[in-house]
Amino acid sequence: MTKILTLILAAGKGTRMHSQLPKVLHKLAEKPLLQHVYDRCAELENNTITIVYGHGGDLVKDTLSHLNVNWIEQKQQLGTGHAVLQAYDAINNDDVVLILYGDVPLISQLSLRGLLATVNETTLSLLTVNLENPSGYGRIVRNQHGQVIRIVEEKDASPEQKTLHEVNTGIFAVQGGQLKKWLIQLSTDNAQQEYYLTDIIAIAVEEGCVIEVNQPECIQEVLGVNDRVQLSELERFYQITQAKALMKSGVSLKDPQRFDLRGIIKSLGTDIEIDVNVVFSGEISIGNNVSIGANTHISNSVIGDNVQILPNCIIENAIIGKFSRIGPFARIRPDTVLSDHVHIGNFVEIKKTTVGASSKINHLSYIGDACVGSNVNIGAGTITCNYDGVNKFETVIGDGAFIGSDTQLIAPVKVGAYATIGAGSTITKETPEHQLTLSRSKQVSVSGWQRPLKKT
Ligand code: UD1
Ligand code: CA
Repeated sequence: MTKILTLILAAGKGTRMHSQLPKVLHKLAEKPLLQHVYDRCAELENNTITIVYGHGGDLVKDTLSHLNVNWIEQKQQLGTGHAVLQAYDAINNDDVVLILYGDVPLISQLSLRGLLATVNETTLSLLTVNLENPSGYGRIVRNQHGQVIRIVEEKDASPEQKTLHEVNTGIFAVQGGQLKKWLIQLSTDNAQQEYYLTDIIAIAVEEGCVIEVNQPECIQEVLGVNDRVQLSELERFYQITQAKALMKSGVSLKDPQRFDLRGIIKSLGTDIEIDVNVVFSGEISIGNNVSIGANTHISNSVIGDNVQILPNCIIENAIIGKFSRIGPFARIRPDTVLSDHVHIGNFVEIKKTTVGASSKINHLSYIGDACVGSNVNIGAGTITCNYDGVNKFETVIGDGAFIGSDTQLIAPVKVGAYATIGAGSTITKETPEHQLTLSRSKQVSVSGWQRPLKKT
């Protein structure tokens, strides 16, 4: 089987982004552009991926060090042809070389497979597209027989060539030996005084190579990100595509334009209803019959069957048990595990806490580093004082406990099973099971007391 060498060009600065960050690290759906490209070609069989990096020094390499690729540095950015030239020694003559751009994030596997299927010793497979507004792109020049003879960059194009709507996507596949032969013939004799990779088309044609033209299924696949407007346009396209796919699979989205999936859905039940302005990040699993209220952000979490999430919640790295009800305005922080039938109400923050079945924390509480049993009722305004300024301590609350409103639990502390804590208590010691514990100053009334009066 032919070996594929994929070269992703990612050394350019991306001047038009006006950013300190190299362009290919800008994110689409919370994932760097370059990683989108990587993910799209990583699944091709028999494929080795090399990334040509340069601008921004090691930042690109360090940020994406988890990718299974070879890194080649292009110290000076002298053009796309020069970028490929840096990989010269890595190219074997019988490899098929697939060229991709780090700033063209949405290329599909289908298009790549199409290119790879049509390349051989005598052909070069080029991906082109017809754009209503072709400005900024290299134009595809064909002869009177309709055969591609060269690519002309916008800055070098004649007024007549500028009217051509078929443009170069930059993506192509070619035999390694051929590419090496043509690469060394590139020059900087052009408007930008750069080594244009696109010039190898004319060289190839001169040597009798046939340019096999493929087109992508949709235009957005091959659109490049050169500025932040284009980035936002691709983000919207990506999001609406995902939203439609979700709806087709049975999810109800109140408004597909106001839903963002910035990660992946690992598993999905049926009859899920999602209101407007909901954002999912990371890896999400959602059970059956779940409803998610407006303005809710969920990341890296598992939502069980029959869960109701009311509006304005933030749920992060958490597991929400079946039939639980969250919000409105609840914040569930990392390492929280809620069992079934748990209620977490408004203005409640929970962190690194497990909550047993049917327990309720309904109003204005902070529960952190705690282990809460089942059937526990935590009253409004209860706070676990888990932090002494240096260390964090645990609070353990037994099954069936009732914590009165406005209680401070000074951790480390334990509340026994079925204990009742009187409202307004500050609990510093373990409270016994089944008993009422309270720490409250006695209420006094002073008879005959008078309010001070203003001197006249
Ligand atoms: C390039 C093509 C153009 C095509 C367009 C498609 C050339 C000369 N032009 O133009 O025909 O229509 O892409 O999007 O190839 N890069 C390097 N090193 C360099 C220069 C660029 O690695 O020295 C990388 C960039 O990081 C980027 C890619 O190559 O990922 C394309 O570079 P860019 O400057 O954006 O080329 P365009 O002007 O868009
Ligand atoms: Ca570009």
